[in-house]
Amino acid sequence: MKDCEDVVVYIMPQKIQKQRHRVMKMAALKHHFTLAEEFSDNVTHIVTEYEMADQALKVLKVTELPQHAHLLKVSWFTDSIKAREPVQILNQHKIPLGDANVDSRQKSETPPPNHIPEFSCQRSTPLKHHNAKFCEALELLQDYAEMKEGDDNYMRALAWRRASCVLKSLKFTLTNLNQLKGAKDIGRHVEKILQGILDHGTSDEVERVRNDPWYQKMKIFTKVFGAGVKTSQEWIENGMTTVDEVRQKYTKGDWRLRFGLAFHDELMQLVTRQEADNFKEFIKHQSAKILPDVSVELCGGFKRGKTAGHDIDLLFTHPLKGKELGFLPQLLSILENQKLVLCGKWNRSTFTEEALYSDSKRTKNSQLDHFEKWIGIIKFPKQWRKSISPEELFNDRGESVPLSPDSCEDLEPSKKKQKTDDELSPEEIAASPRNWIARRVDLIVAPYDQYFYALVGWTGSKQFNRDIRTYARRTHNYAMTSHGLYDLTKRKSLPAKSEKEVFDLLGVPYFPAEERNC
Ligand code: UTP
Ligand code: MN
Repeated sequence: MKDCEDVVVYIMPQKIQKQRHRVMKMAALKHHFTLAEEFSDNVTHIVTEYEMADQALKVLKVTELPQHAHLLKVSWFTDSIKAREPVQILNQHKIPLGDANVDSRQKSETPPPNHIPEFSCQRSTPLKHHNAKFCEALELLQDYAEMKEGDDNYMRALAWRRASCVLKSLKFTLTNLNQLKGAKDIGRHVEKILQGILDHGTSDEVERVRNDPWYQKMKIFTKVFGAGVKTSQEWIENGMTTVDEVRQKYTKGDWRLRFGLAFHDELMQLVTRQEADNFKEFIKHQSAKILPDVSVELCGGFKRGKTAGHDIDLLFTHPLKGKELGFLPQLLSILENQKLVLCGKWNRSTFTEEALYSDSKRTKNSQLDHFEKWIGIIKFPKQWRKSISPEELFNDRGESVPLSPDSCEDLEPSKKKQKTDDELSPEEIAASPRNWIARRVDLIVAPYDQYFYALVGWTGSKQFNRDIRTYARRTHNYAMTSHGLYDLTKRKSLPAKSEKEVFDLLGVPYFPAEERNC
């Protein structure tokens, strides 16, 4: 026990709700604790909801605490309030020193060894690598941290992912932690997980998360088209355990969710490379009729060599800037006329010059861009699953063969151009006999002067984008987005005429898309 007068308590407001923070302070004052409004040298007891010391220290803007100061869990505070005086600090009250991987870039002073460059965009990361078992575990922890939300968890999620990316780029299978010596993104917590797998084949912590019912539900729910982390959390809080239950209960909602739920099962069957190629050919054919010389590129996972994916990302441009204007709505009306559109939303471009430099903050949504795009679900004729010849793909009018407008009329008798209340519900459409399968498609239009940045951005991976953008910022003070590269010092943008030039401007070795699977 301590004399109240020796104790100066500072309750860190971060991660504590305002109201709760107020209540805690009032309780402390009631029992005559000395409270500090801000952190300073005379504070002896710092109470925080941070789970790791290094996170708290970062917020306090110090690298270490004065010797007389203790970093403590809220449990020390509540125990003290119960005791009406500051209680002795027990082990259970102390905040563990830290998860070095959370901000290992700042912590580690050892330069990375030559064979592991610091940023994943400087390394070749193939799709098939030698450390799948380790990466699967680390990315499960990433997944879990992302689901828990909040800035700290986001940073934690990134730390797991960065560690996984180091392993993905190794040319050998990890057998000993010494093989990772000096790699920046491998902190103590990561080492613990890896050691567990090396020793026993699994890590207890990972298995605990894997078997956590909340995680299992979140994993299913967050995959529903239109459902993010928040929606999924809400479903769980409302007692939902399966997508079927959600489907029955949530009959209203935004169009994405309604279709996402109704077509969930088939959207979960991965899109094959064959389907993606057939769709691209079909779209190219239609596009050329509207806008000769339009370029259509299959991006996303397929461009990185994946043989299956959750959607198809098609990027359009035209070498004469301005020609791309008005193209997408025309393409969409062709698709509509051929009854190929199940649902979707077109958004005009929201690009302004400002997007070149103001989007570069490393936030969760930093990959959202301002291109004109359509996001939706297309009805894929079942034949598109097979390798098919152009004659089978189109009739002589250039329309997709299996889905003539007539055959669709039969399937959806009440479908009218303008949505009305008597339209079939998504569930009814899903249940009706049909010769197509629902596929998620993104159609993006980039003006030519932004195109190669858009190409890099839409090729990904997401982590590759994060890393190359951080690299651009840290190394050159450049802001990088899918719209361009902007020199923040000279306040000017750096145009590129090829993908390779994007890499050259950054001084990053050029890796083909297949090696950007970080
Ligand atoms: P996806 O989410 O489709 O990822 O985004 P993916 O790698 O293709 O994965 P699968 O194979 O479909 O499952 C494709 C790329 O487009 C970027 C993402 O960062 C990713 O690199 N993207 C996505 C953007 O740049 N902006 C967006 O608004 C959305
Ligand atoms: Mn994709």
